[in-house]
Amino acid sequence: MGFRYCLLRAGELLNEKAIHVLKGIVKFLEVGYLMRQMGYRLKRVETWVKGREELFDLVAREVGDRPVLYLEFGVYKGEATRYWSKLLKHPESMLHGFDSFEGLPEDWHAVHKVMQKGYFSTNGAAPAIDDTRVRFFKGWFEETLADYQVPAHQVLVLNFDADLYSSTKCVFDRLAPYILPGTYLYFDEFNCIQEELRAFREFRSTSPYRFALRGSTSSLQKVLFQCVA
Ligand SMILES: C[S@@+](CC[C@H](N)C(=O)[O-])C[C@H]1O[C@@H](n2cnc3c(N)ncnc32)[C@H](O)[C@@H]1O
Repeated sequence: MGFRYCLLRAGELLNEKAIHVLKGIVKFLEVGYLMRQMGYRLKRVETWVKGREELFDLVAREVGDRPVLYLEFGVYKGEATRYWSKLLKHPESMLHGFDSFEGLPEDWHAVHKVMQKGYFSTNGAAPAIDDTRVRFFKGWFEETLADYQVPAHQVLVLNFDADLYSSTKCVFDRLAPYILPGTYLYFDEFNCIQEELRAFREFRSTSPYRFALRGSTSSLQKVLFQCVA
């Protein structure tokens, strides 16, 4: 009997929790491999953080008092938008959030769970945020981005938080010409190999620029890149 038969026999002894743990191990090995393939060395990452706010703070420190165009893809109840509204001090900064507010357009297969189509729905309601610089564009990215005119800006910050490959790819397809040296790209669920990571890898392979890995949580879930010349 061969190695595969032995694995099957071992599988007979496992429970669901053990299977999840094993899938997780393989996933992180693959993410590490893919990062290396893209030329990143994790031991050279500038900043390891505990949560996404530290990455947002890092960007805000570097941006200083310059006006920023902050675009968020996937707003849900506006937790991140609210945080950025406090961080960005310049009165001419613009915070534009894109969301269907009807939840995910398709099932999202994360490693340990499946988030069903419609998950994150707020029944069409955009969050109320007391900041006149915040504007929401309600609808599917494909439609809202087709009509969206990217305003002139000094600094561009992109927050990718739509979880899905198709949604993230749609943003890259539309915004690629604006992703220039200096642009910050934040991913909220980066280590899902077939989703945000896949869309980023594909975009990166067509971009003439390099993308510095500026900071991350230890699992590469919350990740900040910056486009560099
Ligand atoms: C994880 S939630 C966003 C969380 C939010 N950024 C926060 O900090 O709390 C993902 C959101 O992406 C939205 N979304 C995903 N794909 C979309 C698409 N193609 N068009 C419009 N909205 C989309 C969903 O409606 C959902 O509200």
